[in-house]
Amino acid sequence: MQEGWKKTLGQMTYGIYVLTSHYEDEINGMIASWVSQISYEPLLIMAAVHPNRYSHRLIEKSGSFALHVIDSRQKDFLTHFKGPDPKAKLASVRWKRGHTGCPILHDCLAYLECRVKTVHTPGNHTLFIGEVVAAESLNEGRPFSSVDYDGIYLGQK
Ligand SMILES: Cc1cc2nc3c(=O)[nH]c(=O)nc-3n(C[C@H](O)[C@H](O)[C@H](O)COP(=O)(O)O)c2cc1C
Repeated sequence: MQEGWKKTLGQMTYGIYVLTSHYEDEINGMIASWVSQISYEPLLIMAAVHPNRYSHRLIEKSGSFALHVIDSRQKDFLTHFKGPDPKAKLASVRWKRGHTGCPILHDCLAYLECRVKTVHTPGNHTLFIGEVVAAESLNEGRPFSSVDYDGIYLGQK
């Protein structure tokens, strides 16, 4: 990709979310920014996930994922979802099982749970399009976005 394009992409803004997933007793959480509402009726949300993510495998198997909107002051909270060990990621945060079985985080502004409706692979990320089956707003606050984060996700790998 041309260097100039990278700079341009770096000037776009994104929400930054915690995406959780599960399959049977396996659970995981990852940071995700390529996320968007794509339909109102039915209510559809798209999450673009690289095939080499552990989360990708879990979403494929369970057909579900959950997205959490976090507060702009929760930068430290995001670090829980960075390490390579999926068990460690959720071990130190409070969560419960949602309708879909996905972990629902306690410390967030809002969450929504989706059942995967269609899957598309137009490029190097898989687009999981999910229908919202549960959603709850838990707290008021300013949602975390790329404005609150140093660096931007370019999706190279
Ligand atoms: C700000 C930020 C945004 C990210 N957005 C995405 C995304 O939209 N899709 C994706 O596949 N990876 C994204 N990532 C990378 C994943 O969070 C990272 O590879 C994570 O370790 C995957 O976890 P897993 O392999 O346990 O599923 C992002 C990372 C950061 C720091």
